Parts: sequence; structure tokens; C-alpha cells
Amino acid sequence: MPELRTSSADSSTVMASGGEPRIRVRGLGKHYGALEVFRNIDFDVGEREIVAIVGPSGCGKTTLLRCIDGLLPHDAGEIRVGREIVTEPIAGVAMVFQHFGLFPWKTVYENVAYGLRMAGASKADVERKVPEFIKLVGLSGFEKAFPYQMSGGMQQRCGLARALAVEPNVLLMDEPFAAVDAQTREILQFELLRIWEERPTAMIFVTHSIEEAVLLGHRVIVLKGRPSSIHETITIDLPHPRTRDTLREPRFAELRERVWGTLMREAREAEFVLER
Ligand SMILES: Nc1ncnc2c1ncn2[C@@H]1O[C@H](COP(=O)(O)OP(=O)(O)O)[C@@H](O)[C@H]1O
Ligand SMILES: [Mg+2]
Repeated sequence: MPELRTSSADSSTVMASGGEPRIRVRGLGKHYGALEVFRNIDFDVGEREIVAIVGPSGCGKTTLLRCIDGLLPHDAGEIRVGREIVTEPIAGVAMVFQHFGLFPWKTVYENVAYGLRMAGASKADVERKVPEFIKLVGLSGFEKAFPYQMSGGMQQRCGLARALAVEPNVLLMDEPFAAVDAQTREILQFELLRIWEERPTAMIFVTHSIEEAVLLGHRVIVLKGRPSSIHETITIDLPHPRTRDTLREPRFAELRERVWGTLMREAREAEFVLER
């Protein structure tokens, strides 16, 4: 049985993807008033790397993504995207939200166009790119539909098209498939992998599903503790492209158990802590 490798921020995956990491997080800390959410977070994400982050509910996964997005100020450490230090939202970073984040009064077409217009795209660019990205996520024919007319899966395809249309080099995904049913979730996971193979970017994929983290990630970061910090980084050495067959590989089960062990030990301990 091959050794399970764990690695620190200067992972071989980052180096293999060529040169500088796309995202570099160093010594990151964040409080909400007296509540210290996380501290000393250090990790990198390569140009073409998917880093999955798992951790118990409330450990600060959404907070971390919003700091990286520049929407929320952090209070210690540094975040760089490319060469830029993040202090406010920067171009080239797109976010996909758990609850889709669509405008209910806009059609699929208009929702996808919105992100492009905000990014300053010309009218011609909008007209060319919107259909292209609607097609990429499999929503052709639904351009005029409103969010309330669509299933959760379709709404998230639309959220994904809106994020991808700006051709980001960083994609931040906050439990994007948590609000859809199990079958749709599986379909969307493989859709995302297909799209990523076609257009690889640096991606941070936050999830509380261990399976999803192992299936999608090149590495899985396990956050735990109060305040939370990175407990372990597990390299997922499953070959790409990953398909439904990946789920049946013994190596997949081994890695899943490894992440499970790390997370569940914590969850069990946390369950029996008295709040003070
Ligand atoms: N705007 C806020 N003000 C105060 N506390 C917050 C705010 N947002 C989140 N929190 C708290 O910070 C912690 C981390 O939240 P969050 O980042 O949403 O965790 P996760 O996404 O891992 O579930 C939780 O204890 C949550 O209650
Ligand atoms: Mg969250």
C-alpha cells in the first residue's frame, strides 16, 4: 500500500503546476469581535490546482473564502492572488455561493451577463460570451428562464456560468452543491470536473462532504479546532481526469478514510465539549 503523503504549503503539486502559486495565504487570522474564528492559516494554491477545504460547520470556511475574495477584511497575515495583496475584491477572482446567489428578477441570460458587465465587458463581448458559457454548463435553451422556474441543479449551473463567464483565474466555491439533492450533486461534481479539465484554474472548493473533497481535490485541507487552524493537508494522488470509476478505486476509499479519520476524531471530541 503506498504511503499516504501529507504536505505543507510548499506542496509538490503547486511546484508541478509550474512556478508561482496563484493564491498564497500566510499567517491568516480573523476575529468577529471577541470570537476568534481561525488563526495561522498558511497554504498555497497552484495555477491549475483544486484545493478542497473541509471542516466542521462553523469552523470558518465561508469566512476564509470571503477574506480571500477581498469582501471581508482579515486581521492578521496576508493573502496574495498572483502578485497582488488582497485588501479589496480584485479582478480575476470569482465566487460560487451555496445558495446560488442569482438575481431572482433576472433571466439566466441576464444573470450570466451581469457578472461580465460588472467586469466592464463590451456589449459585443457580452453577446459572444453569454451563450458560450450557458452552453458550457449545459443550460442552452433556458436563456429566458427565471431562477424560480428552475431546479436547484439548474440554478447552480447558472451560478457557475456567471462565475466562469468572466474567465477568472481563481474560482472560489462555497459548498456549491450543498443545497441540491444527492443525484444532482453527483452529476454536478462530474460536470465541474469536466469544465475544469476544459478550462483549468486555481480553485478552492469548500465542502463538508469528505467524498466530494477527495473526488475533486488535488489536495484536501482539514480545518479544525477552536479557533480553527489547518490540522492536516492530504495529497490526493488519484489520476485525472477523474470519473465515476474513480469512486470505485481502492485508493479513493483509502484517502476518504484518511480524511474521515482526521475529521471525525475532532467531531467526536467537539460533541462532548460544554459551551462556556
Ligand atoms: N458576520 C458575522 N459576525 C459574527 N460572527 C460571525 C459572522 N459570520 C460568521 N460568524 C461566526 O463565525 C464562525 C465561522 O462562521 P463561517 O465562516 O460561516 O463557518 P463555516 O462556513 O465553516 O460554517 C461561526 O461561529 C459563525 O457563527
Ligand atoms: Mg459556510
